[in-house]
Order: sequence, then structure tokens, then C-alpha cells
Amino acid sequence: MNSGNIQSLEQAIQFAIERETEAEQMYQKLIGLAKDPKAKELFEDLRDMEAQHRQNLQTLDVAGFKEKHNQERVYNMQIADYLIDKKIDDVRTFQEGLMLAARREQMAYQYYSLLAETYRDNPGLFEFFSVMAREERSHQNDMEKEYDENVLLYN
Ligand SMILES: [Fe+2]
Repeated sequence: MNSGNIQSLEQAIQFAIERETEAEQMYQKLIGLAKDPKAKELFEDLRDMEAQHRQNLQTLDVAGFKEKHNQERVYNMQIADYLIDKKIDDVRTFQEGLMLAARREQMAYQYYSLLAETYRDNPGLFEFFSVMAREERSHQNDMEKEYDENVLLYN
């Protein structure tokens, strides 16, 4: 699933699961690159939260939600808009890792926000995607703060 647009809830969730798996790998990488033990701890927490997101997506009762609200949806989501060229394996420095993580979190926030909007009339899904969006937003803030404190300070 690398081109075109999202066309169903199942596809949207599958795409999100793939991105969450990458987010886990991203934080695992940052744990390895960080020197400050407090930063390592932060990345461990974030890695575990992304693993939890993946699990939430994997266990979501898609059929149940669809049964209650089965009207057609318009998905204004181009897959290409939520992919980043830079590969986690290519990240060599702590600074690069933080920048990539912040961008990925921003995209995750936008992705879940749009999904929440798409399901505004479906209370269960709206709440689910809104919570996900909020958490990714807070991760983005964490990364930006970490960047300000650790990269700007020592470079
Ligand atoms: Fe995140």
C-alpha cells in the first residue's frame, strides 16, 4: 500500500498500523542514539505508547462500528501525504532522529485528526481517533521540546 488514496476504514487502519510499527522502530533507534538517561527513558515511554497504539488499532471492532454506521465515507487522504522519504535506517545522529520523529508525529497527528473528522457522526470512532490524534500531538511536542533542550543547547 504505497500509492493512491485511502478508501475504507480497514485500509485506513492497516495503513495506521504500519506507521505505528515504524514509530516503535523510530523510538528504538533514538534509545540507541541518546546519551542522556532521561532522554532514553522518554523514548522508552514513547515506544511503549506506539506499541499500545498499534494494539488498539489491531483490536478495534471495525465490523461492529461499521454495522452501526454503514453509510459511505469520503476519505480525503492521499497515502503519499503521510509517508516520509527518509528511512529510519539512514538516521545517523541524535539530531536527525529527533527531527524525523517530530515530522512523523506531526503527520500521525494530522492523519488521526482527519480520520476523526471523517467519522464525526460515529461517536465510538470519533472518540477513538480523537484520542489517538491528541496523543500524537503530545508526542510531537515532546520531540520539539527535546530538540530545543538537547540539540540547540549543545551544538
Ligand atoms: Fe506517536
